[in-house]
Amino acid sequence: MRLVLFGPPGAGKGTQAKRLEEAYDLVQLSTGDMLRTEVASGSALGIKVKDIMEAGKLVPDALIVDMISGRIDEAEARAGFSLDGFPRTIPQALSLDAILDGKGLKLNRVIELRVDDEAMVERITGRFSCASCGDNYHEKFHPTTVAGICDACGGARFDRRADDTAETVRARLKAYHDQTAPLISYFEKKGIMMSIDGMADIDDVTRQIREALD
Ligand code: AP5
Repeated sequence: MRLVLFGPPGAGKGTQAKRLEEAYDLVQLSTGDMLRTEVASGSALGIKVKDIMEAGKLVPDALIVDMISGRIDEAEARAGFSLDGFPRTIPQALSLDAILDGKGLKLNRVIELRVDDEAMVERITGRFSCASCGDNYHEKFHPTTVAGICDACGGARFDRRADDTAETVRARLKAYHDQTAPLISYFEKKGIMMSIDGMADIDDVTRQIREALD
């Protein structure tokens, strides 16, 4: 199965992609995570994109398409994948179609997580992750079971993303509405789009997605 998880910043794409990875053996391909790895490593690509990401703007299409096409080719993605944060513009969607066509593959589904913009600011500014294993949490909606200790690995240090400030979230939401939301009608025309209520709690969103896929 090949899926796109679609929605604005904070909609829950990453949270749900991780759950689908376990439930359906779908590799999560997150362009945001790939870019953050490049920035952390200080690579040439990371240096190019750091300021763009911290300003909440979209990275140029050509850089993104180069980066993701290699990952779709990797052996671990052959059984299936969920795309988290890609495509984000019409040119990126056309490139994805061309990449898949070239391999005789198709996208099976696009799952849209419908959410309210204002709630996304609270979701994103409350997000943090374990510095050791990367497990994701939220101060209010998904806290650690024991305060200050990661549920998954017992780590006691946590990180926040550089672009998770209220000001940058608003810039990211604007980029979503200006450049990414037009993809909704693109996918609707293909007949593979399903809309899910992303304002429900995390377990309920997972249940809705699984019902849609099963
Ligand atoms: P990226 O990393 O893709 O960020 P994003 O799209 O802004 O999305 P987020 O990761 O912030 O949110 P999410 O939907 O995954 O939500 P999450 O599950 O974490 O992109 C970052 C930057 O990289 C971009 O701004 C751009 O510069 C660049 N970039 C990346 N891809 C690009 C591309 N294709 N083209 C150009 N540039 C690109 O959830 C958020 C929080 O809410 C968590 O704490 C979670 O616990 C909580 N939560 C989740 N679901 C729920 C729920 N149902 N109820 C309550 N809380 C919830």
